[in-house]
Parts: sequence; C-alpha cells; structure tokens
Amino acid sequence: MTTRDKIKILILDDEKQFTEELSGFFQGSDYQSFEANTSAEGKKILADHEIDLLILDIRLPGVNGLDILKEVKLQHPRMEVIIISAHGDMDTVIKAMRLGAFDYLRKPFRYIDIQIAIERTQKYLQMQRKLKQMEERNSLISTTLEEKIDRQFIGVSPQILEVFEQAITAANYPDANVLITGESGTGKENIARIIHYLSIRNEHVFCAVNSSAINETLLESEFFGHKKGSFTGAIADKMGFFEVCNGGTLFLDEIADMSLNLQAKILRATEEKVITRVGDTNPIRTDFRIISATNHDINKRVEKKKFRLDLLHRLNTLHIHIPALRERPQDIKPLLIHFVDVYAMKFNKPTLHISMDVFDVLLKYDFPGNVRELRNLTERAIILCKSNLLGINDFPVKLQKSSSLEEDATFSVNLKMHEVNMIRKTLQTCNYNKQAAADALGIHRDALSRKMKKFNITTIPEHLG
Ligand SMILES: Nc1ncnc2c1ncn2[C@@H]1O[C@H](COP(=O)(O)OP(=O)(O)OP(=O)(O)O)[C@@H](O)[C@H]1O
Ligand SMILES: [Mg+2]
Repeated sequence: MTTRDKIKILILDDEKQFTEELSGFFQGSDYQSFEANTSAEGKKILADHEIDLLILDIRLPGVNGLDILKEVKLQHPRMEVIIISAHGDMDTVIKAMRLGAFDYLRKPFRYIDIQIAIERTQKYLQMQRKLKQMEERNSLISTTLEEKIDRQFIGVSPQILEVFEQAITAANYPDANVLITGESGTGKENIARIIHYLSIRNEHVFCAVNSSAINETLLESEFFGHKKGSFTGAIADKMGFFEVCNGGTLFLDEIADMSLNLQAKILRATEEKVITRVGDTNPIRTDFRIISATNHDINKRVEKKKFRLDLLHRLNTLHIHIPALRERPQDIKPLLIHFVDVYAMKFNKPTLHISMDVFDVLLKYDFPGNVRELRNLTERAIILCKSNLLGINDFPVKLQKSSSLEEDATFSVNLKMHEVNMIRKTLQTCNYNKQAAADALGIHRDALSRKMKKFNITTIPEHLG
C-alpha cells in the first residue's frame, strides 16, 4: 500500500501522552497518523493534509469540543470524526452524533475498541473514495458523453467504408495510438469514440480533451493531477486526465495547437506510462491509449518546428484520414436521411418527407463545414418546415443561391461556348464568307458582326493569321 492509499488520521487531544501512545499504535499499519494537542495545531494540520479521519477529544480545555466538531465538519465535509468522550457524558455524545460524528469512544478505552471503530470508519471511507473517483470520472464522461454521444457513423462511399475498416483495425489493437486527420466537422471525434467503444477499453473512460483550450498555467495539473495545497486553489487532491483515463482512451483533440511545453509532457507520459501528481512524489502507473485529432496539416507544423516530430511518431502509429464531405458526395443523401430521421423524431414531426430538390441542391453544395454543417442545416430546416414536405425553401437562402448561381453560371458558360463554336464552325464551312454564314445561322449580317466582335472571333483563322 502506498502513502497515498493510507488512511490519514489526526488525533486531537490535549494529553500529549495519549496522542503519542495512540500514534505509536498506528505505526506500521495501514494508517498514517498526525498528532495535535491544541485546536490551533489541529486546524493547521487539517489545512495542510487531506485528513480522512479525526479522532477528537470533545473535552479540550478552553474550547467547546462540539463547536470544533461543527466547524471541521463544515470545512471538511468528506472527513469522518470519531469523538472521545468522558464516561457518563451521554448527552454530549448524542449531540456530537447529531452534528455528524461517525462514532464515539469512551475514555478509558482498550486499543481493540479503537481498532474496531477505525476499521468500521475505514470501510466507509473506502466506499466514499470509490464514490469520489466515480464522480470524477462521471463528470468527465457526462460532459463529453451526454451532449455528444453519437456512435452512429453513416456513409456508403468507398472512402468512408475504408475509414470504417481502419477504425475496426484500430479497435483490435487497443494499445496502438491513432492519429485522425480531416477538415473540421468530418467526424474525427465520432470515429475516435467508435474506436474506443469497439475496443476492449470500452469499460473504462473515454476522456476527450481539447488540448488547445486548456489554460497554460493549469495545464500540468489538468493532465497530471495535483496534491492538495500544492498551489493556491488546490483545495483537494485531484486526479488528472492521465489518471482518470486509466484503462481507457485519452482523446486529444486539436493537437496542432498544443504548446511545446505540453507536447514535451505528453511525450514523456506516453513513453513511460507513469505520472506524478503536481506537488507529490509518488509515481502512479497508468495505462491509456491516445487517439489524437487535428484538422491542420501536422507535417507543416513539424517543418515549422511548432510540433515535435518524435511526438508525431508516437501518436500516429495508425493514421486515419477522413475525407471532406464534398469529396464523397455519395454520403450526402444517406446522411441527410439520417439527420432528418433524428430531428424529425426530436421535433415530433414523424411524417416528414424530403423533397427531391433538396437532394439536388445539397449535392451541388460544397459543405465547408462538412457533416456538422449538414447536420445543423437539417436541424434548422426541420424546425422551419411548416408542412410535411421538407423543401429547399426551408434551407438558407445562401445555399439556394449558391447552387442556383452555380447552375446559371455553368449554363451561361455553356451557352456562350456553344454560340462561339457554332459561329466558328459556320464561318469555316462558309469559307469565312460573313453573309453566307449569317444566312446559314438565320441571323442578320450585322448581328453576326456584333457577335463576332463580342466574342472576339476573326474571319481569318487564328493559325493562319
Ligand atoms: N459519418 C457520420 N455519421 C453520422 N454523424 C456524423 C458523421 N460524421 C460526422 N457526424 C456528426 O457531425 C458532427 C461533427 O462531427 P465531429 O465532432 O466528430 O467532427 P470533428 O471532425 O471532430 O470536427 P472538429 O475538427 O471541428 O472538431 C457530430 O455531430 C457528428 O456526430
Ligand atoms: Mg472534433
């Protein structure tokens, strides 16, 4: 058992001989004991160490033991208290229990009594610790899972099927680090979750961390955890990401923006799989797989010395690239159908149909925001849709325009090209006789001249002139 696991006990009693004796009794056991003979000494120790159990003599000279009990329970709600009372002082005992004391001992007592009382408290404390760890994990899981859990990955294009296959391979190699690249909104985090949930690590935490969003001063403590009191604001011991995701997956999002300082620390932790909390000396072994993601050209960052090559080599044991949505238009239709299903259900419009013009227009759109943009557009359109038919008018004007403008532009270019080609061909056939060509085209000679000027067509073929 390491010092960290030991239950920390503070004995607060004005009789020095008693505190020393009891402390001696704890030596070599699973308990780490501290002694205090005045309430001031006691408070100092409580402030400096995360005490799990206080053995408190309720009859300290000059102070009301019950007041101390009330105060310490308020300031250290997770700490348990066993009070020591005098024989026949049942009234105080009852009051103390009502104030939250866990147990009581009457002086004089036998060591076996204290042993039993402490073992009882220890069991309770261990449960509390487990609960605390679960709470820490859950808070991390819930922030990431609750709002974002989405393990469905829709797509029929060969590109996306390949991504899926690579994800399955990654799931089968739970110790290999994976780097996922792709534009924003292509589904990098989605794939990372899928890899985690398909792997044997799925019973442990998937901890998603946006590396660029973490405050530089708190960075070390966020990743490595800290010991209570190691810096201002460290009011309790805290686990860092590396420890929280023990057994599971650490998802490092947007690694290209990571500071060089963090890169160095992550490299070490990944190589050694042993970390130390800030302000502590105990090494802690932790086993995790890193899946990282970026929408930047990470190799360029390496060239510019903004990203460590050795870290990149560590992180991209397996590399998965998710192509932009515009490069795999086959996926637009199934994705649209999927999001319509999801949001029609959410907004209680179960009979909603999709009009064909929506598919036509979306297929021409280039989706700079990729799947996320398609999802948001669909959600908004479904909210706005007043009938049972989701039409292109329910989508933003920008989208309608961009697609129709593009169509107009192609059309007019084609028309112009056709016209130019037709005039050229006719002139050629008519041996560059303008009147004959105008007659053949069914237009006036002047009209032909105007068009030739407009399109810069000469009567002498270019290669001759
Ligand atoms: N193939 C897919 N099937 C279903 N939903 C998808 C798919 N790809 C992406 N999404 C959805 O699109 C949204 C954006 O995906 P995600 O957050 O994984 O993108 P990202 O690549 O991590 O983006 P960023 O680089 O901006 O962080 C999410 O709601 C996700 O569920
Ligand atoms: Mg992301």
